[in-house]
Amino acid sequence: MRLKNKVAVVTGASRGIGKAIAECFGKEGASLVLCSRNLDAVEAVAKPLRDQGCTVVAIAADVSVREQAENLITSAQEHFTRIDILVNNAGITRDSLLVRMKDEDWDQVIQTNLTGASYTIRAIARIMMKQRSGSIINISSVVGITGNAGQANYAAAKAGLIGLTKSAAKELARRGIRVNAIAPGFIETDMTSRLAPQDQERITTQIPMAVLGKPEDVAYGVLFLASDESCYVTGQVLQIDGGMVM
Ligand SMILES: NC(=O)c1ccc[n+]([C@@H]2O[C@H](COP(=O)([O-])OP(=O)(O)OC[C@H]3O[C@@H](n4cnc5c(N)ncnc54)[C@H](OP(=O)(O)O)[C@@H]3O)[C@@H](O)[C@H]2O)c1
Repeated sequence: MRLKNKVAVVTGASRGIGKAIAECFGKEGASLVLCSRNLDAVEAVAKPLRDQGCTVVAIAADVSVREQAENLITSAQEHFTRIDILVNNAGITRDSLLVRMKDEDWDQVIQTNLTGASYTIRAIARIMMKQRSGSIINISSVVGITGNAGQANYAAAKAGLIGLTKSAAKELARRGIRVNAIAPGFIETDMTSRLAPQDQERITTQIPMAVLGKPEDVAYGVLFLASDESCYVTGQVLQIDGGMVM
């Protein structure tokens, strides 16, 4: 078990990639604090994990609201006294061309995908600094590296997350805290199922491996960065994209 005796907080764990990360971490022996905005949906992920013997705390928290993001971390610490791993996975899209983009769609995507991660990192850094250990993993995207027409808000947030990752890695390395990012390509989840079939086909032709990824493919990369196997890795962006961007 690669995460035995470790405590992990995973945001956006009610479905898709976050759910796969929670299941993967649970199998590897971690105790979990899972959140999304919908408590019933997180409980539905938590229950089968508990049935398998995993300790899981489910919390309703909107990471885009500072107080709720901070309360998530405080509750996790109160429950387990220590936190070893934070996965900032919660994310949304509000796609449109720049010239048509509404302020609220810009703001909501930046606030959730970028500022939300900064809230949890700032809250958890204090705890991990005292422990002198911790691993933080931010779920970015390949479009944070390449940009994407129709997703300027999302790409800006995901690029910002890479800057946040590298800056935090530099600030926290001497305290024993590693900070890395994962940049998934196109993964089969609710987020991508909204794409029209012709868009999914077009995207698939741009992937050398010619298939969309599965949430588990991302979870295995997160597991590596969360575990002690990556103890000398910090400030990195691991692409999990079937070769889409290289
Ligand atoms: N799917 C892809 O192809 C792909 C590619 C690159 C990167 N990513 C990134 O991977 C992450 C997961 O994506 P996914 O495809 O699994 O998306 P998804 O299926 O839409 O799931 C998103 C998760 O985030 C939660 N969430 C959204 N806003 C939240 C908020 N303000 N506070 C707390 N939780 C929130 C959702 O739960 P509630 O709605 O219940 O709150 C849900 O659990 C995102 O950061 C996404 O940008 C995905």
